[in-house]
Amino acid sequence: MKILIIGADGQVGKHLYSSAAKDGDFIVVGTYRNPKNSKSPALLYLDLTKPPTIKKAFDLAVPEIVILCSAMTHVDNCERDKELAWKINVEGVRYVAENCKTFNCRLVFFSSEYVFDGEKGPYSENDDTNPISVYGKTKLEGEKIVLAVKDSLIIRTTVVYSYEPESKNFLMQVLRKGALKEKMSIVNDQYSNPTNAAELANFTLELIKLKKSGIYNVVGKDLMSRYEFALKICEIFDLNPALIAPERTANLDQMAKRPLKAGLKTDKIFLELNKIPSGAESSLKSIKRAL
Ligand SMILES: NC(=O)c1ccc[n+]([C@@H]2O[C@H](COP(=O)([O-])OP(=O)(O)OC[C@H]3O[C@@H](n4cnc5c(N)ncnc54)[C@H](OP(=O)(O)O)[C@@H]3O)[C@@H](O)[C@H]2O)c1
Repeated sequence: MKILIIGADGQVGKHLYSSAAKDGDFIVVGTYRNPKNSKSPALLYLDLTKPPTIKKAFDLAVPEIVILCSAMTHVDNCERDKELAWKINVEGVRYVAENCKTFNCRLVFFSSEYVFDGEKGPYSENDDTNPISVYGKTKLEGEKIVLAVKDSLIIRTTVVYSYEPESKNFLMQVLRKGALKEKMSIVNDQYSNPTNAAELANFTLELIKLKKSGIYNVVGKDLMSRYEFALKICEIFDLNPALIAPERTANLDQMAKRPLKAGLKTDKIFLELNKIPSGAESSLKSIKRAL
């Protein structure tokens, strides 16, 4: 199967690209946007705000499956620049979806627990959405566009982490500050399921191979607060837990509202794949072992 991974230099895209490239079932082409961030000369240039670059990547890759990992993911920046967030996360998705229809290929899209308001999570795939931030609203609009493409697959996930020295993912933020012995205030009232990026990539490829379509939650086993997750990181990576202080989200004065009681249920993938991504402790231990 020929796969085009849009955003193969982002956190999720990178893991998908390397897993798919090792898998004999796939021929993989990836894209990058920012030459400064892209370490691989093999990737094609694609900017979701520039439709001709999308068409060109499709023309060159002639994909059977497109995995769209690129997005404006910084939640507060989406609130600051609503127009750009809409341009990337909605209009960009629309251009990709149109090309998928032209090329008659399947579309795989990543979405988020931020499509919910966080009043009564964890949420199943069928629960009513009600985003409370610009990021969440744009991801929900993206989902609607993707669902109109035949046999499309939407994977909702949360708090994705991996060990990548230059990344700003939650694990790396805690490890970096922990190593410098910097104090950290971490919210203890935002609940979700930390998800290992490598596992997310592998589950995604498995769902693709099984020709699944519709919405699937793919998240780690544990529903926990960011504070609890930070303490778990300290425990596994031998950092001083006294560096971590609990904080209320309301005290942070962030631009975008966060869904507090969020998180996603994994009953559907468990029923269909008979497994779910691992919990924080075993996943963090396996990351540490691999270092
Ligand atoms: N990370 C999480 O916790 C999380 C949770 C739920 C859902 N998701 C979803 O999962 C997907 C992947 O997230 P991630 O963690 O891999 O995010 P990420 O590391 O921030 O990567 C985002 C990618 O999007 C690219 N991008 C941004 N603007 C673009 C544009 N105009 N045109 C083309 N590419 C553009 C970035 O390229 P540059 O390097 O050039 O900016 C980067 O490669 C996203 O759809 C996100 O909404 C993530």
